Amino acid sequence: MDDTPSRIPAAVTDLRAAARDAGFTMSCEERTGSLLAVLAATRPAGRILELGTGVGEGAAWLLSGMSPAARLVSVELDSAVQGIARAELGADPRVTFVGGDGGAWLEEYDGEPFDLVFADTWPGKFTHLDRALDLVASGGTYLIDDLDPQPGWPEGHEASVVGLLAELEGRKDFRTVRLAWASGLLMAVRAVS
Ligand SMILES: C[S@@+](CC[C@H](N)C(=O)[O-])C[C@H]1O[C@@H](n2cnc3c(N)ncnc32)[C@H](O)[C@@H]1O
Repeated sequence: MDDTPSRIPAAVTDLRAAARDAGFTMSCEERTGSLLAVLAATRPAGRILELGTGVGEGAAWLLSGMSPAARLVSVELDSAVQGIARAELGADPRVTFVGGDGGAWLEEYDGEPFDLVFADTWPGKFTHLDRALDLVASGGTYLIDDLDPQPGWPEGHEASVVGLLAELEGRKDFRTVRLAWASGLLMAVRAVS
């Protein structure tokens, strides 16, 4: 079976071109994007958090799956790359772009939990993990990608990934599944207690 997504949202196509022009190479790959869209579609009035907007490709996939009542918050440190996302997607009333450090945002946020958290940067994944998991609603999903070793990984990063997987899989309050697919994903769902 060829698992290349057959439907690419128009905004993703636009953002790919913008990413190329900006030299941004960290966008999620399209199979991950298609999973984001499906997960977003499972939450008709869902509250969704993305940590690390990049140029907005992940956000565009999420928005393509979201219902009109669903809401997305996307946090990014680099205002220039997030500016590309704001220009393409900012008119959509379902998305709120937050500029700033994801770790500080996680520490300060005191609103409702989220039904889907796509933790796609350091905070919420390699730092502030407990805080990000605290923000996952009962029955909600935490998703991370980029878990398969890459040639450009910094020294020690593979060990950090191994530690992260062990920590997530050791949590009694989440059910987890590894997906050896796309860039290597792990999905964790908070068990309803
Ligand atoms: C893998 S990219 C995000 C890709 C995007 N989620 C997507 O699916 O297309 C990671 C992003 O995290 C941003 N970033 C790095 N450190 C950060 C921090 N401390 N807080 C928030 N964002 C950060 C980077 O600037 C980069 O744009």
